[in-house]
Amino acid sequence: MSSSYREAMDRLQESGRLRQLRPLTGRRGCRVQYQGRECLNLTSNDYLGIGGDSLLLGQFYSGMDADNLLADYGLGASSSRLLTGDTESAHTLEAALAKAYGEASPRAALLFNSGYHANIGILPALLDKNDLILSDKLNHASIHDGLQLCRATHKRFAHGDYDQLEHLLVSHRHHHERVVIVSESVFSMDGDIADLSRLVQLKKKFDTLLYLDEAHAVGLYGKKGLGKAEEQGVMADIDLLVGTFGKAFASIGAYVICHQDIREYLINRSRSLIFTTALPPVLLNWNRFVFQQQQGMTKQREHLADLARMMRQALQDQGLAATGESNIIPHIIGNDQETVQLAEKLQERGFLIFPVRPPAVPEGTARFRLSLTADMGWQDLCELPGILAKESKPRPAATGKPL
Ligand SMILES: Cc1ncc(COP(=O)(O)O)c(C=O)c1O
Repeated sequence: MSSSYREAMDRLQESGRLRQLRPLTGRRGCRVQYQGRECLNLTSNDYLGIGGDSLLLGQFYSGMDADNLLADYGLGASSSRLLTGDTESAHTLEAALAKAYGEASPRAALLFNSGYHANIGILPALLDKNDLILSDKLNHASIHDGLQLCRATHKRFAHGDYDQLEHLLVSHRHHHERVVIVSESVFSMDGDIADLSRLVQLKKKFDTLLYLDEAHAVGLYGKKGLGKAEEQGVMADIDLLVGTFGKAFASIGAYVICHQDIREYLINRSRSLIFTTALPPVLLNWNRFVFQQQQGMTKQREHLADLARMMRQALQDQGLAATGESNIIPHIIGNDQETVQLAEKLQERGFLIFPVRPPAVPEGTARFRLSLTADMGWQDLCELPGILAKESKPRPAATGKPL
C-alpha cells in the first residue's frame, strides 16, 4: 500500500516537484540560518519585519500582567469559541478591528484561526445552491478550496480580466439570487494588484457582494495599514474583507470585516469557526498588540515601497522582467527543475529563495517569488539582480491560466 506513495514521490522527485520540510535554525531580523548557512530571507511573509524584531517581542512580554496570566497569556483555549473557548481577549481584538475598519461606516469583525480557515469557512456558510461565485483564476488555493465546499455554482474569470467578469455578470446575474465577486487585493504569487474601483463599480452595477482577500496587503497599505481598500478609500464597499495575522502581522489567525448580521450568521453557520479549537489568549493579545503597533509603522511601509521600486529598477537594468506592483516580485523561470537548481545556487550565495512550482502557480510558470521585507536594506539586496541576470533566462509572466 505505502509503495504507491513512494512511487508517487519518486515521480515528484523526477519532475522537480518534491517538497521537503527543512527547518530554519536561527533568525536575526531578515537573516536566517538555513542548512548551516546564513542567508538573507527572501521567502518570508513577515513584510514589516515584526517577527524578527526581538525588541518588540520583549515589549509585549514585559507588559505581561502576572495577575492575569491565564486569562491574557494562556497557551490554550481548550475548546471552540462556541463552547468555553471564547475569551474577553477575542472580543477586545474584534472590537479593535471593527473600530479601525469602521471609520467610514459601522463594521463588525469576526476572528478565524487562520486565513485558510476564513477562506474555506465564509462562502460555504453564506451561500446556497441558488447562488453564484465569480472568482479570479489566480485567487489563492484557500479560496479555491472554499469554492469546492460551496453548494453555490462557481465560475472563474481570467486573472484581472474585468471585461470578462462583466460579461459573466451580464449573462448570469439574473439566474441567481446572490452573486459574490471574489478577488485578492495583492495577488500572492504575482505581486500585482486588483483594480478595486472597477470591482466596486461592477458590484454596484450588478448588485453583488464583494469578497476581498487582503492577506498580502494588510500592514502594507493605507494610513493605518488596513490594506488596499483603505488606501483606495473603498472600505465601506467591501462586503467581506479578509485579513490575516499570519503575514505582515507575524502571528497566526485571521479576521473578516463585514456587516454585524453577517458576523452573527457566520457564528451560527461557519464550520471552520464552529468545529475547531479557538486561538489561545496569548496569541489574541499578541495580535491586538501588533495590530495597534503596525498602525504607526508608516516609515516601514514607505521604506518597503522604496526597496521594491529599487529592486524592480535594478532587475530592469539587468534586462530582466520585473512585474508585480508590490513588495512581491515574481521572477518566472518556467521549468520546474531549472527553478529548483537555480534556487539551490542562490542559497549557496546566501539568498534564501525557494522554488515555487505548480500547483501553487500555473503549469510552465515555475518561479521565484522574491518577497522583500521592511527590515532589509538596499545593501542586502543590491547584488541579487546581477546574480539573477547571470544565472537565469527568465520568461515573461504567463498569468491567467487555471491552477
Ligand atoms: C491570498 C491568501 N489568502 C489566504 C492565505 C492563508 O492565510 P493563512 O496563512 O493565515 O492561513 C494565504 C496564504 O498564503 C494567501 O496567500
